Amino acid sequence: MSAAESIIKIENVTKTFGKYKAINDISLDIPKGSFTTLLGPSGCGKTTLMRLIAGFHDPDEGGIFINGARINNIPAYKRKTPLVFQEYALFPHMTVYENISYGLKLLKLPKSEIKEKVNEMLEMFGLQGMENRFPKEMSGGQQQRVAFARALITGQDILLMDEPLSNLDAKMRVEVRNELRELQQRTGVTAIFVTHDQDEALSLSDYIAVFNKGVICQVGTPWDIYFKPESKFVADFVGVANFIDGEVVGFSGEDIVVKCSDHVFEVNQTGHAVKAGDPVTIMVRPECISVMPNAGEDKSEGYCWNGYIQKSSFLGRMIRYWVDCGPFQWIVDDSSPSQVLKGLVNIQLDKSRIHLLTKDR
Ligand SMILES: Nc1ncnc2c1ncn2[C@@H]1O[C@H](COP(=O)(O)OP(=O)(O)O)[C@@H](O)[C@H]1O
Ligand SMILES: [Mg+2]
Repeated sequence: MSAAESIIKIENVTKTFGKYKAINDISLDIPKGSFTTLLGPSGCGKTTLMRLIAGFHDPDEGGIFINGARINNIPAYKRKTPLVFQEYALFPHMTVYENISYGLKLLKLPKSEIKEKVNEMLEMFGLQGMENRFPKEMSGGQQQRVAFARALITGQDILLMDEPLSNLDAKMRVEVRNELRELQQRTGVTAIFVTHDQDEALSLSDYIAVFNKGVICQVGTPWDIYFKPESKFVADFVGVANFIDGEVVGFSGEDIVVKCSDHVFEVNQTGHAVKAGDPVTIMVRPECISVMPNAGEDKSEGYCWNGYIQKSSFLGRMIRYWVDCGPFQWIVDDSSPSQVLKGLVNIQLDKSRIHLLTKDR
């Protein structure tokens, strides 16, 4: 992750339930003021990690630090890490005012002070005039703002959100997630967000930590996670990709030479400690390949192949093709289509977008 100051540090944390290791020796730094997403399939340990940070679980091993102080033994209510569960966890029977003021009431602040602080929050989140409404009388975006105001009113600078958008329909999800990002940037709060939805993770985050089976596979910016995954698991989980297994056969200048079937790919990728004979996988995203009609002449050379369209899928903003090119089948996305292609085509790979995967997971 970046060199920015970290506000939360998770160091070699393990958590078992019975014999099951839900979290297996995880280390993670969360930079202050960042929006960091834990992304992974259901059951991989995301909620468990959030509950460990919030203090609802104790780690079996390892340390959790907030602003440099070890907090393993500090109870949840003293940690200042409010956990927002699904549906923003507003109290449905309370008005906006009552929801926002809830935390301050628990702290037994004088009424006048509570009123002043709630008014500040209402103004900050554009909720003036809505204080007497109930959550069901508000849009998803407005409810989101109330949830934020309620979490932040007690002076928190860390917000933990566990799949807060999962009960919304698709269109609403996008609307509310944009609002969520805007609110986080405006308040400068450090947000840790859990989702199993890769689009959500890619569009919201400064950093994504991809989880699988209790371990973190990779941490990086959305761009790196998507275009420079380290393993097949990460590449596959965050999007559609072409994978071709091969073997390192040598080096050519800056390039690693990889043989797949009878074809040789030269991958410009420094930083990989591979040697001849190592098994590797070539990855290419479908949008990094172009497809053109072919009138019959053989144009195959280098990274251009003749192929035959086996299947196509019209998705509105693009057409996805499955193209059979002899030894390889490629998935190709045409994102500015002028027609639906059929039959014989040429496909052209952008060599600079070929990526090498060297890790198992
Ligand atoms: N309190 C618990 N007792 C026993 N097993 C649990 C408990 N909480 C979670 N688990 C198990 O730990 C694993 C990770 O769960 P969880 O963190 O909820 O996953 P996620 O949030 O990624 O879907 C799952 O296999 C789940 O069944
Ligand atoms: Mg969960």
